[in-house]
Amino acid sequence: MDEVRRAGAVARLGRPRLHLRATTSTNDRARALAQAGAPHGTLVTAAEQSAGRGRQGRTWSAPPGHALLLSIVLRDPPTLLPLAAALAVAGVAGSHAQIKWPNDVLVDGRKIAGILAEGRPQDGWVVLGIGLNVALRIQDLPPELRDTAGTLGLTPADLEPTLDRLLAALERALALDAPALLDAYRDRDALRDREVSWAGSRGRAAGIDGEGRLIVELPEGGRTALNAGEVHLERS
Ligand code: BTN
Repeated sequence: MDEVRRAGAVARLGRPRLHLRATTSTNDRARALAQAGAPHGTLVTAAEQSAGRGRQGRTWSAPPGHALLLSIVLRDPPTLLPLAAALAVAGVAGSHAQIKWPNDVLVDGRKIAGILAEGRPQDGWVVLGIGLNVALRIQDLPPELRDTAGTLGLTPADLEPTLDRLLAALERALALDAPALLDAYRDRDALRDREVSWAGSRGRAAGIDGEGRLIVELPEGGRTALNAGEVHLERS
């Protein structure tokens, strides 16, 4: 099955495409299309979202026309999809981009993109939502995001070319087998050897295991592997 997906993954993302001047959330629109039977690769983009969703119940803000806001319907998605998506976005951002497990993409320590995969595994589809700050100016963001958000620093005219590069990078990342994907991901691991905290616990990040989990060395000795959720980077 993986072989079939790898062979079939080439150049199928982005068609058909629905572009909206404004919507609530591209993930909502893509989800409705997926439920109605939209094919693998169906793309929804918007210039503006009124109810953009982030991970952990947060909202996602972006000034109209300055960020890529997109969702893709993926049928039979791989288990490591969130990591593959992060790798693709980091590739578009450049060689210096890093990934904060599981899928925040950072440039100079600032988050330039967020990824939200939502799906119905039992129905064989996932909606992959990506917000990429292509051309936004930090001062146009809400004050609470200005210390942590980043941008590629491009112009609105660069949105479509960046989308093309992102779709191509995503196709390449989805075509990798798990070991190759994880090797490339590890090269961009922003947490490696850093102090992290999560859900009331702390430890030192010690890499990514063969299943895409974050390995953490615990202060009391021993290690644990985190499956999902959110870790926070402690100040060094
Ligand atoms: C995160 O919290 O880091 C994930 C943010 C994901 C935002 C994108 S923007 C396009 C798509 N539509 C949404 O409502 N959310 C995702």
